[in-house]
Amino acid sequence: MPGGIDPHTHLAFEFMGTETMDDFFTGQAAALAGGTTMHIDFVIPVDGSLTAGFEAYEKKSKKACMDFGFHMAITKWDEVVSKEMEIMVQEKGINSFKFFMAYKGALMINDDLLLEGFKKCKSLGALAMVHAENGDAVYEGQKRMIELGITGPEGHALSRPAVLEGEATARAIRLASFINTPLYVVHVMSIDAMEEIAKARISGQKVIGEPVVSGLVLNDSWLWDSDFLTAARFVMSPPIRAAGHDKALQAALSTGVLQLVGTDHCAFNSKQKALGIDDFRKIPNGVNGIEERMHLVWDTMVESGQISVTDYVRITSTDCARIFNIYPRKGAILAGSDADIIILNPNSSFEISAKSHHSRSDTNVFEGRRGKGKVEVTIAGGRIVWQNDELKVVPGSGKYIKLPPYNYLFSGIDKAEANYLASLKAPVKRTIISKA
Ligand code: URP
Ligand code: ZN
Ligand code: ZN
Repeated sequence: MPGGIDPHTHLAFEFMGTETMDDFFTGQAAALAGGTTMHIDFVIPVDGSLTAGFEAYEKKSKKACMDFGFHMAITKWDEVVSKEMEIMVQEKGINSFKFFMAYKGALMINDDLLLEGFKKCKSLGALAMVHAENGDAVYEGQKRMIELGITGPEGHALSRPAVLEGEATARAIRLASFINTPLYVVHVMSIDAMEEIAKARISGQKVIGEPVVSGLVLNDSWLWDSDFLTAARFVMSPPIRAAGHDKALQAALSTGVLQLVGTDHCAFNSKQKALGIDDFRKIPNGVNGIEERMHLVWDTMVESGQISVTDYVRITSTDCARIFNIYPRKGAILAGSDADIIILNPNSSFEISAKSHHSRSDTNVFEGRRGKGKVEVTIAGGRIVWQNDELKVVPGSGKYIKLPPYNYLFSGIDKAEANYLASLKAPVKRTIISKA
């Protein structure tokens, strides 16, 4: 099948006072060992500057051993940012922008910026993405937990319940509808958020929902473990939910309510997680998944009989290439496509452990998991890079893939806009004719 494409990763990401364990070499090597041959990472602006952010990520990605593209986060708004967005789309190969509705005081933006950003995305043919949690309410929830003396990792999940993800998802969807632009909801972790996406899609709105492997196969039971590091390992945002959400997200994926699977790979080691030993608000948010995604999705979705092999290829590769507008160069095995190909043996088993994984992190949220469907060969750009459990990767061999604007979701947008404008009546000319 075509190599996996991971739409959501954070390599060499400086976040919450530290930096992720995996950089563009180690993270990509891990990806290749797990059958993923391309990923799209999030460029984070430097002091709000997109240009400085892009340059920083150009440097970080020099040692890439696998093809990659970029999304960009928008963390503030002014004329400079607005202009920089044009340059990013027209010259730098970025066709998607992520808006954080959470992380108050850090990356979070409010609705006014969200609206400005959505308008700009629409005018550029770029896809607006949201991290959908109500950041003000999360802040309130965190204060409440601290007041109650709940300072451990479970406080993370308790302070930001699914209702806050549902609220923000609904709000982002309605604002995108008001602006008439497509929307991509990253890391859908709850039934609450998923149902909002389902409703919008039924009504014909162009909304894409991306679950991540951690949300699909894990539940929050570990968060209550009495060992701090065992629990802290699972801290990510939105949080891994109670059992039941995982199965519902799987069902949504199998019925097309959700479209493609990412990882949100953002790996921290035990020492970094321990920064939050006295206060869950200081535990760096993020879990691994870049190496495990293809295996776990096969085992959970195909081996279990929930989806066909064809759908597996679609949700792990082809739809990602379509949405980010690089199909059929990526996401297909066709004459003219890049030779990114994997062989997955459905009869061979895998077992996940930090002892054998390729990430530099010393823990793995999927520790001990076994299943069927192992990637035995990975071919990236025509070269065999993974075979007989051996990696042969070369730093600097990965290419930056420019992502062009106006994906298929934009077809019909102009027409909808024209219909809307035509539906408006000309302004009524008024004078005061009634007697007081
Ligand atoms: O906890 C997470 N998800 N860390 C990465 C940053 C983000 O919000 O995607
Ligand atoms: Zn996020
Ligand atoms: Zn993320």
